[in-house]
Amino acid sequence: MTGRLAGKIAFCTASGAGIGRATAVAFAREGAKVIASDVSMEALKSLRDEGVAETHLIDVRNTKSIEDAAKAVGNIDILFNAAGYVHAGSVLECSDADWDMAFDLNVRSMHRTIKAFLPGMLKRAETSGKSASIVNIASGAGSVRGIPNRYVYATTKAAVIGLSKAVAADFIRKGVRCNAVCPGTVQSPSLDARIAAQAKTLGKSGDEVRQMFVERQPMGRLGTADEIAAMCVYLAGDESAFTTGQTFLVDGGFAL
Ligand SMILES: NC(=O)c1ccc[n+]([C@@H]2O[C@H](COP(=O)([O-])OP(=O)(O)OC[C@H]3O[C@@H](n4cnc5c(N)ncnc54)[C@H](O)[C@@H]3O)[C@@H](O)[C@H]2O)c1
Repeated sequence: MTGRLAGKIAFCTASGAGIGRATAVAFAREGAKVIASDVSMEALKSLRDEGVAETHLIDVRNTKSIEDAAKAVGNIDILFNAAGYVHAGSVLECSDADWDMAFDLNVRSMHRTIKAFLPGMLKRAETSGKSASIVNIASGAGSVRGIPNRYVYATTKAAVIGLSKAVAADFIRKGVRCNAVCPGTVQSPSLDARIAAQAKTLGKSGDEVRQMFVERQPMGRLGTADEIAAMCVYLAGDESAFTTGQTFLVDGGFAL
C-alpha cells in the first residue's frame, strides 16, 4: 500500500540514524511531507535524496530551538519523537548528572516538542477533521521488562509511557492521539557503539557481545529499524484513528 500518509505533514526528531531515520523515510514514502531533524547535520544530509522535504539542525535538549522550529514549521499532523540515549549501569553507577542527562534527552525532549507543536496539531485536527498523531519511541527495556544494567534508561522509558498516556487522556476529545512504541533490540549505530563499549568492559570480542544481544531476543535475531518504522507509520496515519494512549511492542518476543 502507498499513500497512507498522503496530505499529512510530519515533524520528526533524531532522524539522522537508526529508527528515527527509517521512520522519517517511511513517512515520506507513504506520501507525508516530512520535516526531519537531528543534532547532526552530517547525519541528515542524505535524507533529502530519500524524499524528506526539509531537514533542520535541532538538539532536542534545546527548548528555544524546538520552539523556533514549531513556529517555522507551522501546523502539523504527525509528531514523531525518536531521540534517546542508553546509559549503562545499575542505580549504583548512576550519577546525578547521568540521571539529569537521561531524563532531559529521553523524556523532557518529548515534553518540549509536544508543548511546542501541540497547539498547531489541535488546529490542524480541527481544520482537517482527522486526528493528529504523536508517536513516541519508548523501549521494551524498563517499560515492560526489567533488564540488567539499564537502570536510568529503563526509568526514562517507563516515563515516556506515562507521558504518552497523560497526553492521550488530555486530548482524546480534541483530535490528537498519542501512542508509544516499545522496540526490542534493533540494529543501529548506537547499538554498535554499545556493543563495542561492552566488549571492552567484558574483555570479549564484538562478535561475542553481539551474540549476547541476539540471545536476549527470543526470536533469535535483532530487529531492523524498518520493522519499527512500519508500526510508526500505522500509528501516525488514519488507519489507527481509534487508537490512543497505548504501548506497542515491536520486540521479537523480548517481553515474553
Ligand atoms: N536500537 C535499539 O535497540 C533500541 C531499542 C529500543 C528503543 N530504542 C530507542 O529508539 C530511539 C532511536 O535509537 P536508535 O538506536 O535507533 O538510533 P541511534 O541512537 O543510533 O541514532 C539516533 C540519532 O539521534 C540523534 N541524536 C542524538 N542526540 C540527539 C539530540 N540531543 N537531539 C537530536 N538528535 C539527537 C543522533 O545524531 C542520531 O542520528 C531511541 O530513543 C532509543 O532509546 C532503540
